Amino acid sequence: MSLAFFVVFGIFSTLIYTSVTRGLLTSETNNVRDTMSAVDSRFNVYHTPLTQDQVHHRLSPHVPRKNLGRDQEGRLFTENPEDFYRDSLSKQLTRGDLSLVLYNDQGQVLFQSGDISADFAKTDVQKKIVLVNPKHGPNYLAVTMPIRSSSTHKIIGYAKINDGLRNYHHTIEELHRNIIATVLVVLILSFVLGYFLTQPLVRRIHQINRTIDKIDEDPDSQARIPVQQATDEITDLAERFNHMLDRMQEYTNQQKEFVEDVSHELRTPVAVIEGHLKLLQRWGKDDPQVLDESIDASVNEISRMKKLIQEMLDLTRAEQIETNYTNEITQANATIEQAYNDFRMLHPDFKIDLDNTVPDNTQVQIYRNHLMQILVVLLDNAVKYSKDRKEINLSTSTENGMLSIAVQDFGVGINQQDLQRIFNRFYRVDKARSRESGGNGLGLPIAKKIVEMYKGTITAESAVGSGTVFRVNIPLVNKNKINM
Ligand SMILES: Nc1ncnc2c1ncn2[C@@H]1O[C@H](COP(=O)(O)OP(=O)(O)OP(=O)(O)O)[C@@H](O)[C@H]1O
Ligand SMILES: [Mg+2]
Repeated sequence: MSLAFFVVFGIFSTLIYTSVTRGLLTSETNNVRDTMSAVDSRFNVYHTPLTQDQVHHRLSPHVPRKNLGRDQEGRLFTENPEDFYRDSLSKQLTRGDLSLVLYNDQGQVLFQSGDISADFAKTDVQKKIVLVNPKHGPNYLAVTMPIRSSSTHKIIGYAKINDGLRNYHHTIEELHRNIIATVLVVLILSFVLGYFLTQPLVRRIHQINRTIDKIDEDPDSQARIPVQQATDEITDLAERFNHMLDRMQEYTNQQKEFVEDVSHELRTPVAVIEGHLKLLQRWGKDDPQVLDESIDASVNEISRMKKLIQEMLDLTRAEQIETNYTNEITQANATIEQAYNDFRMLHPDFKIDLDNTVPDNTQVQIYRNHLMQILVVLLDNAVKYSKDRKEINLSTSTENGMLSIAVQDFGVGINQQDLQRIFNRFYRVDKARSRESGGNGLGLPIAKKIVEMYKGTITAESAVGSGTVFRVNIPLVNKNKINM
């Protein structure tokens, strides 16, 4: 920022500098031009080449008394323009930085004033006023002009005028001094200001660094960047960073838990299979009954493990839906009817009712297999956890831009405490019973993950002994189309 400030300041002062010097130079040039015309008017009255006498006579600052008058304020003035020139020329010459050399028509010096070389360069035309830039010493304006007689128009002499630009140099020097002083003030100011402005920022960046160091040392550390009440970018960054840390730790914790849960879940079937194999190793080989039982049990356990592995895969995949299936669209009725028909065929002992009020061609924002998976998980549970009353009601409808699915059974039910946990991984209300029916406690977590990935909801209501209702809502494709 201070760099930009300096650039702007630099451009600004350069502009001022050039315009001031140009203005000053123009006024000095005009000055020289005035002197030229003064010299010309002073000497062009002669017809013959200039002589020393004439020059001295015309340059004497004497004004005849008869020409002098006084103005209202008592100042002396003269009405004779010649006198004015004479005066002004004398004034110019006594100013100090204006130098004049007068030559006759042969180039011999007749008069010389000021600090000027008398070298003569003959010229018939009036030269331009030039800015001379000597190697040593300051630059000055110089011009050489012929003086012509006003009557004969012959050259009667020459004049060389130098203007030492004293005012100009003086002003430029002052300008330099002022610019340097301003630069110094601006430099100090921007340094002080910059320090006070960046100091809080630097302090907060240190805080971020310290937090990163702590997390580096101990990834489970609860260290977070202190968040202030301000609404600036750093606070925003700190909040987002903290949020990212929360999520990352949550994620790694989940991974840890998952591995622990999985190994715990696998330990039982592996132990069961190991037990049976040992049994066979010792004496089972000769006992056909033990052999049969052990082989049956082992096959059972292995099927369970197979299902477990598949379910774990499903769960992991459900966590990646966001990136892979966000734009998938499914015809609601086709999928609902297929799930309904599959279950009726698989479980002929159940009375399964479908109450479907979803209009034809209703499209749901979900990948078909995922919708199917949700229905299967819920219907499978309804079948598994029904005892005497083998009835299931599957109701589907659309409302508020959502496809609503309700799966109701009249089975064992779930008590309120367990109802809070059934969506957790590997959670089963009755572990022993669930194992008998081959449950891993992964069906509902999978369904919940999928539903949430599609921005839907899943809830459960239950009463022990009376039954359970699971309700799922999934967004439709066009909310306006079906808003009944
Ligand atoms: N309809 C239901 N009626 C009564 N209890 C249920 C019902 N659905 C689920 N539960 C209880 O919730 C637990 C978790 O269900 P979930 O579907 O996640 O696992 P699971 O059915 O045991 O095994 P999996 O679905 O992995 O084969 C079940 O073990 C069961 O105790
Ligand atoms: Mg289940």
